[in-house]
Amino acid sequence: MRLELKKITKSYKDKEVLKEISVTMGTGVYGLLGPNGAGKTTMIRIIADVLRSDKGQIFYNEKDIYTIGDEYRAKIGYLPQDINFYSDFTGRDYLEYSASLKGMDKSLVKKRIEELAYNVGLQDDLDRYCLTYSGGMRRRLGIAQALIDNPEILILDEPTSGLDPFERIKFRNIISAYSKDRLVLLSTHIVSDVEYIAAQIMMMEYGVIQHTHTREDYIKMTEGYVWLIEMSTEQLVEYQKKAVISNVITKRNYMEVRVIDELKPNDNSIQVTPNLEDVYLYIFKYLPEKLRR
Ligand SMILES: Nc1ncnc2c1ncn2[C@@H]1O[C@H](COP(=O)(O)OP(=O)(O)OP(=O)(O)O)[C@@H](O)[C@H]1O
Ligand SMILES: [Mg+2]
Repeated sequence: MRLELKKITKSYKDKEVLKEISVTMGTGVYGLLGPNGAGKTTMIRIIADVLRSDKGQIFYNEKDIYTIGDEYRAKIGYLPQDINFYSDFTGRDYLEYSASLKGMDKSLVKKRIEELAYNVGLQDDLDRYCLTYSGGMRRRLGIAQALIDNPEILILDEPTSGLDPFERIKFRNIISAYSKDRLVLLSTHIVSDVEYIAAQIMMMEYGVIQHTHTREDYIKMTEGYVWLIEMSTEQLVEYQKKAVISNVITKRNYMEVRVIDELKPNDNSIQVTPNLEDVYLYIFKYLPEKLRR
C-alpha cells in the first residue's frame, strides 16, 4: 500500500496554509507534529478527502484519488479534530450509523461494535446518549467510529486530546498493533503519543513539512544539545528568560532544569540523552530563536 502526496497546496483567501507538500507513506504509523496553525488539520482533511487542495495530486497505489473517488474513500477511516454527534443518538446508534455509511454487512456489525467498544473502554456506555458523554468518551467513540470497518488507511486528528493516561496508553497499543499492515496517520501535540510507535515522524510548520525522520534520527540530530543544570528558584527565574527549557523538576533544595543548547551552558551542566520532546523544542524553539539572534 502506498499513498503519495505530490505538491499539495492550499490557500484560504490570500493565505497559503499548505505549501507544496510532498510525502510518500506506506504501512505503519506516521506521526504529524507541529505547533498550532501549522497546517496539520488542513493536510489531514485533504488526505481524508473532505477538503480539496488547490493544486497538487494524491495517489493511492499509483491511482489519482480524485479519479477513483469512492474507491479511495472506502479505504479510509477518519477522526476529525472536532467531532459532532447527533443529539438523539446513543453511542451504539452512532456506530451503527457509521457502519451503514460504510456499507458494512449487517450481520457483522453487532459483534464489531461490541469488540470496538470494549477496545476503547465504552462497553458500559454504548446505550447512553452521546451528548451525555465526557470529552474523552466522545473522542474514544470517534476513534471507534474511525476503526469500524478496519480501514486500510486510518487518519486521526488529535485522537488523544482529552484522554486520561490510562486510555492514552490503551490507545497507543491499539494503534501500534493496527498499523502492522495498514497506514495510520496521526496528528498530535502530545509528543509521547507517537514517540515510540511511529515509523516516521513529520514535523510541520508554516504549511511545510520541515522534517521527516525516524525517532532515532531525530535523537541523533540533537545529541549533545540537552543538559541538566541544578539551580535555585531565583536563578531559574532569570535563566528562563534566555534559555530554552524543556523540563524542570523540583528537588528538595534546588531545581533540576533540563535545557536545550548547542553549547555547554556552564561548567556544572551534565549532558543527557535527548528525547523527542527535546527535539521538538530544538526544532520549533531553539533554532528559530538562534536565527533571530
Ligand atoms: N476554514 C478556514 N478559513 C480560513 N483559514 C483557515 C481555515 N481553516 C484553517 N485556517 C487557517 O489555516 C492555518 C492552518 O490551520 P490548521 O487547522 O490546518 O492548523 P493545525 O496545524 O491543525 O493547528 P492546531 O494544532 O491548532 O490544530 C491556520 O492559520 C488557520 O487559521
Ligand atoms: Mg489541527
